[in-house]
Amino acid sequence: MSIQFGGDYNPEQWDEATWIEDVALMRAAGVTMVTVGVFAWARLEPVEGQYEFGWLDRVLELLHDGGIKVCLATPTAAPPAWMARRYPETLSVDRNGQRRTFGSRAHFCPSSPHYRERSAAIADALAERYADHPALALWHVNNEYNAECYCDISAADFRAWLRERYETIAALNETWGTAVWGQTYAEWAEVEPPRPSITLLNPARLLDWRRFVSDATLACFVNERDALRRRTPGVPVTTNFMTMHKTIDHWTWAAAEDVVALDAYPDPHSPTGSIDAGLECDRMRSLRGGQPWLLMESATSAVGWRSVNSARDPGQLRVASLQAVARGADAVMFFQWRASRRGAERFHSAMVPHSGPDSRIFREVSALGHDLERLAELAGTTVPADVAIVWDWTSWATLDESPRLSEHVTYGDQVLRYYRELWHRNIGVDLVRPTDDLSAYRLVLLPAAFALDDNPVLRQYVAGGGHLLASYATGTIDTTAAVHAGGAPGPLREVLGLRVEEANPLPAGVEVPVDDGYAVLWQDIVVPETATVLSRYTDGPWAGTPVVTANTYGAGIATYVGATLSDPLAARVLDEVCRQAGVEGHPAAPMVEVVERHSASHRYHLVLNHRPVPVDHTVPAGVDLLTGTECSGLIRLQPYDVKVIRV
Ligand code: GLA
Repeated sequence: MSIQFGGDYNPEQWDEATWIEDVALMRAAGVTMVTVGVFAWARLEPVEGQYEFGWLDRVLELLHDGGIKVCLATPTAAPPAWMARRYPETLSVDRNGQRRTFGSRAHFCPSSPHYRERSAAIADALAERYADHPALALWHVNNEYNAECYCDISAADFRAWLRERYETIAALNETWGTAVWGQTYAEWAEVEPPRPSITLLNPARLLDWRRFVSDATLACFVNERDALRRRTPGVPVTTNFMTMHKTIDHWTWAAAEDVVALDAYPDPHSPTGSIDAGLECDRMRSLRGGQPWLLMESATSAVGWRSVNSARDPGQLRVASLQAVARGADAVMFFQWRASRRGAERFHSAMVPHSGPDSRIFREVSALGHDLERLAELAGTTVPADVAIVWDWTSWATLDESPRLSEHVTYGDQVLRYYRELWHRNIGVDLVRPTDDLSAYRLVLLPAAFALDDNPVLRQYVAGGGHLLASYATGTIDTTAAVHAGGAPGPLREVLGLRVEEANPLPAGVEVPVDDGYAVLWQDIVVPETATVLSRYTDGPWAGTPVVTANTYGAGIATYVGATLSDPLAARVLDEVCRQAGVEGHPAAPMVEVVERHSASHRYHLVLNHRPVPVDHTVPAGVDLLTGTECSGLIRLQPYDVKVIRV
């Protein structure tokens, strides 16, 4: 076992002499695997139906001779110019009806039969050609699926999807509530994608559209995956997910893959960048039940698409990469190997920068490659977690969508608020769906779980002795987008021992005093039924109304937080809930991350300093795998330093 190290390799931008130099440099840097051909469709199939594999044969031969494995991509995120010209219907259409033009990438309509047919054909041709190639280790389908198309072909596909779901137009009318504003459909042909209209659209229609978009795109992935699996059943298939893009439902998608892969580009200047990156790592590990995942892309330094593309500090590349390893990644890869001189990404950093291998970046890249060699025994080990955060795609898709309660409250922010508190305490977290088995966790957090159906799993979890912390907006609607009769928290009313009589989202900047702090963004008007009140509003029209409550339900306790609390108050509530649940973290200095990985025989204690200043930290006795030295007790970590201690 080993941890793979490498990046996207785009040899079609370079000549053969450069390929030869590339392989030598890859070896020097400790590269073990590269992703080839992500955008090479025009080069592989310059004329429809005529494949040119000679150049790729040579590239794969050079890589294999250099001992480098290949993650071979299907190039279907970059349909060639001939396709746009001959089959303009393969170009996607935006919400406003504008057809996208050729000249960027990812411009395909996922429902286009012709696009799907040509994608499967090139996937099949690649698999036929390279099925027995000794360098082939992994298939990478398309790139960062994020397509959404409002064309007439997509509209017909949407209708077919709806017919399968509802069977009759009467059932659709009922579920969507089309009696409101006279939106009743007499026949399927009248149903269109949610293109813009005068004012608000029907939320159930918007939710089904989201689901359809995810499924239509997934059908593209499956279409290629199946073509690949037919010829290479033993080679795993993945695609690279983006952070915080709700266009596709990662839970459903991950089940269709063999391994999960992430592209992560945290802003090096965001004070919470490395914390929020932790959430993405934990999310990826959780998508397939704790299976190791792949950091498929990241930046060695600056990206090329922010308004200000700042460099990473010296040392940041290492700590950010090892953070992914700490949180379960078995690969650290970058976009891209060699910096492009031309084209849209000419200013994006790379493993070999424009300044060449005699550079700070290449030295850091090579050092990282050799660090990962020393960490080989971490591959395949697991990351323990006592706490689960419910990450629910339907709540995400609906809470943030208009008609909504507050534009200041987004699902991602709500989850991050709780995640960051856990991160600062170095408490291990998994992400789960609301219906997953929760029995392994001491504590489950349910931040803004807006769309909940009746949920026996959560009920039984608390009744059986579990600890639950739910926040406002939870259980407001069901998964058809209808508001629960009786109001929030809908199916969790008994578990939480309360009802929310009204929700009062607050204007930006308004602070409502609470016993020992204040509330912002949202104020639930909570009516306790069996719950005990822990704190109340002390001023304003709802003075005396509960803010935080706790309810004993069976053998467990369910805490409710009906507002966004000021930080110290939020911290106190979480500390108390963790104490009750018996959850303990690893105390550390600010921005020092501590994570454990376990194997059958060993415990690994990883300490990561995310700040550009030295810090002291107390570690258990063991060997630091990165330096081979024994350490124990109080040690000093240099700026952005990392220790990986086999205890
Ligand atoms: C994404 C894409 C890559 C590249 C990078 C740049 O991750 O998958 O092709 O464009 O962004 O940051």
